[in-house]
Amino acid sequence: MSTSPRKQNNREKPLNRRNFLKKTWAALGILAGLEFTGAGIAFLWSNKEKTPAGDRSKLLSVGAVSDFALNSVTPFRPGRLYICRLEDGGFLAISLKCSHLGCSVSWDASSGKFVCPCHSSSFDKLGNVLSPPAPRALDIFPVFIQNGEVLVNTGKPVKRQRFIKSQAVYA
Ligand code: FES
Repeated sequence: MSTSPRKQNNREKPLNRRNFLKKTWAALGILAGLEFTGAGIAFLWSNKEKTPAGDRSKLLSVGAVSDFALNSVTPFRPGRLYICRLEDGGFLAISLKCSHLGCSVSWDASSGKFVCPCHSSSFDKLGNVLSPPAPRALDIFPVFIQNGEVLVNTGKPVKRQRFIKSQAVYA
């Protein structure tokens, strides 16, 4: 049985639209994957720097390793950041700038969350989003530990989607 060209045309339209949407979603998925991979590589690259390089005027000493208790969050206002010491001893320097529109988040020790006063986003102590509208985790800064001193490069904020173990820096 043959189908008229007009009928075939009518059948192809939804199919083409579906294919177009499929291809669009696939392309968007690939782009998102590339962006995520690129951000991860950029972060790992910066984390591989064992010694601080570049603009040393942005390098802040936030204290000695022993100043930070395990499982603690400590504000460091001069750098507009928080030092998060993980249970396993790792360090993260978390920007206090909200990833939504840049308001300053504050640490609420009673709830164990960073809270943004502007649109109520909240983040866990690793900077992961707990409630939107923040689209991604809080930025972090590269941390260096030299001779028992914790140094943070505040000139190099690193964007990330969420916390991954390789972001933590160990003495
Ligand atoms: S600026 Fe923080 S939630 Fe909007």
